Amino acid sequence: MYNLFKKKWFKFTYRDWLAYFQRNDKRRLVIDFSEEPALDFKAKDLIFPSIMAFQKGEHSEGYQFTEMAKKFAKDRKEPFYADAIRYFIREENFHSAYLAEYMNFYEIKKATENSLDKAFRSMRHSGGLFGEVSVLVTAEIIALTYYTALGNVADQIKSPALKQICNQMLHDELPHIVFQSYTLSHYPDHIGTRFFRRLLMEGTTICVYAAYGNVIKKGGYSYKRFRKENLGYLAQSIRMVKIMKNS
Ligand SMILES: [Fe+2]
Ligand SMILES: [Fe+2]
Repeated sequence: MYNLFKKKWFKFTYRDWLAYFQRNDKRRLVIDFSEEPALDFKAKDLIFPSIMAFQKGEHSEGYQFTEMAKKFAKDRKEPFYADAIRYFIREENFHSAYLAEYMNFYEIKKATENSLDKAFRSMRHSGGLFGEVSVLVTAEIIALTYYTALGNVADQIKSPALKQICNQMLHDELPHIVFQSYTLSHYPDHIGTRFFRRLLMEGTTICVYAAYGNVIKKGGYSYKRFRKENLGYLAQSIRMVKIMKNS
């Protein structure tokens, strides 16, 4: 598990975050398929159901989020937030595009519907910006453990392109957790909000493992370890919110 406190992001303001996203935007991944072998059916069966779901989940037009971010920027006099969110959404869409490119290489069609994704989207849009960001940070934490597991699977099935994608995801998702935590630190922090976030994490962990536990397990994560790491990152985020509020 990574220690989110070790990084400089912890001290970032929204101006710093905007600059960070703009810098990162210039460092997009170019996937190298030159060493990619032809995966067998077994390997494809293992990895693609979850990859299809995450490909869909990472993609968003972000209309509502953008509107909420503009309002937050105005109300809180944080002029850089709306632009930071614009870049953030762009970055997530790149994640979706990397997975789509990988699927395309193996001629895998995009998923049309996913019940987990639908549930996530309707939850995100029901609680204002605080709800949106709370749900989002849950998804980012799950993504972090999932891509760690998938990266291990990529080694096992010898897919260098997938490994490259997973490394990029980890590189990008870690700061996202700190970024979203910073936004949550602008809201009242009490036992109710912490309980809400815990409940969200417990529920999502169960659902994701029920759906994609086979690939996550192959990547070295028993259910127990998967839950422990997700809750560990959540604890870091909650602690971070508390410290950010008081600084
Ligand atoms: Fe992402
Ligand atoms: Fe993310």
